[in-house]
Amino acid sequence: MTTTDDPVEATLERLSRQQKLSLVRGAPDPEGTATGYLPGVDSVGVPPFRLVDGPLGIRAEGERATAFPASIATAAAFDTDLARRQGAAMAREATALGQDALLAPGVNIIRVPHCGRNFEYLSEDPVASGDIGAALVSGVESEGVVATVKHFVANNQETRRTSVSAEVDERTLRELYLPPFRAAVDAGVGSVMTAYNRVNGTHMSDHEYLVGDVLKGEWRFSGYTVSDWYGLETAVGAANAGLDVEMPGVSMEVWGGDGDGDGELDDFEWPDGIPDGTHAGLFGEPLAEAIDAGEVPPERLDDMVRRVLGQLARFGRLDEAGAGAGDRGTDDGEGDAGELDSQRHRDLARDVAARGTVLLDNDGLLPLDDVTDVAVIGPHVDEAKLGGGGSSETTPFRSVSPLDGIEARAEGAVASAFGVPRIESVSLFDMLPFVGDEADDETGDAGDTAEADDRDPSLDDAVAAAEAADAAVVVVRDATTEALDRDTLDLPGEQDALVEAVADANDDTVVVVRSGGPVSLPWREDVAAVVEQWYPGQADGEALADVLYGDRDPSGRLPVTFAPEGAYPTAGDDRRFPGVDGEVHYDEGLFVGYRHFDAAEAEPTYPFGHGHSYAAFEYGAVEAGDDQTVSVTVENVADRPGREVVQAYVRPPDVDGVERPEREFAAVEPVHLDAGERRTVTLALDDLALSRYDTDEGWTVDSGSYTVEVGRSARDVRGTATLER
Ligand code: NOJ
Repeated sequence: MTTTDDPVEATLERLSRQQKLSLVRGAPDPEGTATGYLPGVDSVGVPPFRLVDGPLGIRAEGERATAFPASIATAAAFDTDLARRQGAAMAREATALGQDALLAPGVNIIRVPHCGRNFEYLSEDPVASGDIGAALVSGVESEGVVATVKHFVANNQETRRTSVSAEVDERTLRELYLPPFRAAVDAGVGSVMTAYNRVNGTHMSDHEYLVGDVLKGEWRFSGYTVSDWYGLETAVGAANAGLDVEMPGVSMEVWGGDGDGDGELDDFEWPDGIPDGTHAGLFGEPLAEAIDAGEVPPERLDDMVRRVLGQLARFGRLDEAGAGAGDRGTDDGEGDAGELDSQRHRDLARDVAARGTVLLDNDGLLPLDDVTDVAVIGPHVDEAKLGGGGSSETTPFRSVSPLDGIEARAEGAVASAFGVPRIESVSLFDMLPFVGDEADDETGDAGDTAEADDRDPSLDDAVAAAEAADAAVVVVRDATTEALDRDTLDLPGEQDALVEAVADANDDTVVVVRSGGPVSLPWREDVAAVVEQWYPGQADGEALADVLYGDRDPSGRLPVTFAPEGAYPTAGDDRRFPGVDGEVHYDEGLFVGYRHFDAAEAEPTYPFGHGHSYAAFEYGAVEAGDDQTVSVTVENVADRPGREVVQAYVRPPDVDGVERPEREFAAVEPVHLDAGERRTVTLALDDLALSRYDTDEGWTVDSGSYTVEVGRSARDVRGTATLER
């Protein structure tokens, strides 16, 4: 007998304590596809629940899926509608692969240019990260899959990520690092993954203040929190702090070693960046004992389960009576089959890759004429660059290399050369010797799908090819992975020398960069054009050709500042990065990214928001409207269509004794304009850009005049308006 009509409460009432415990601790997936698995309780109609990585597409074990571009590319498109569509497509693929929750998006602020996971994140700016992150969340959840925003919070580096304490003051947390998570919560995110690191000394899985008070209390987050994998420190601390689900819940011995759980991994020295994969099962017996001992209130277990069941119910996975597996809310009761590798998903992967491409420099060489004879040069011209290493690695059904993409589009001759040796790909999976061959095959870098080309790389061949062609396209890449930060922003291997040699041989050289974030481009003034493509995913060569030949306007803009390595706020200061004595001190406070370059009056190589178009735009006068908006008329004065990304920044008034960034990114509106077309664009300024967090008063909007700058980047202002507050 149940005493309530509420399916969640009805189900909860029928669960034994043992059954409740089985819903808060992961278990091995009998199908072997999920990254994390809850077995469900068949007798009361709770179906199994599968959680799967990750931000760049679905990484279901042994399965293929659409490989979308790196998240930073999605962010560079500055287009919430596009991000929403990507989220929806990933969710349809998750469904097709039998998965219920997606472990994405990652919204950690890009604090350090060296961070190995920058490609999985969105921006150095909290409004940009929040907008795109929220759009991804709502896209994923619009297709009936739980989104998981991660990694909460201040997980901004991979070095010692499982132990380091981010020492960061309250105001900086509130103004920079927390807002993207808040935006995800406001967008209805069903799950939040806690980070591996500590914040101000407390492990994030145990962080009562940030998880309990801020996330669940202040923000009223009603979904479930989940630990990062093997990222749970203590049963009692975590349960009382507000952690709801432990993942993966079982020792890595289940997958690694001989799988007999005999403790053979006990002596394994876990490399830096890899959590101890035997530290598991805390939300099993240890949690039960803690409840019996009165260390964790039994209501807490009910709350954990209620939160999990709440998401199951929300997405149609619990039936009304709390008995019988749900059908994912479809009217016909047939269930939702999802969609995998469909033409629209392939097109979308290409669309995001092209839209996220940033034209950093162009002296007029681009777009290329159709009939141009081109030499396509670089150590990986025959391989698509899918992503970086780690839990976000996806295995696509198909991928198009830069060379294939250009060959398919060019009407002139296409020659190719590798020039220099290949760049070794890096992956956290290579750090785990007991992860089997099968997994290696699954998770290899993009190019593993390409046919081997056994020519030896030769700089002479590259130079000869460049000399013989009308234009040279040099494709270069970095190599980054989860669990490892880069030790330099230089491109690896001999790629800089390759660019120099090709640029010497042909004035019409364009360099196409594939990187997870900022890299050094020492030759940028010696070449005709520089294109930043991030990690473009399976549609790599197609999207590249779209942009090089002008079939699409390169409408990406930088979501991160590009600057010389020594100019970043963390440069040359171990305290700030990678930390000393187990602590990394966020001494720069709010002055991350462009906020730092403004305060330091330092010239970045390419500012936040930067990116050229093949069209040209003129801005009219900026007018302040009601409701915290500004409007501006933008005209495409070129003879070709283009997509302008209109940006607004707010400069706050001076207030005695209050330190503030000179300007804060406040809004963006991408607009497609045909040749000669004009349109009035209205930008709604984010509250975050006008307010500051005062540790006594909370969110504060100072009275005075706020200058709203409207333009093409943080350093290219086309007009201003004033708002009084
Ligand atoms: C660890 C990563 O930090 C997280 O992003 C990922 O979702 C889990 N592993 C599962 O693979």
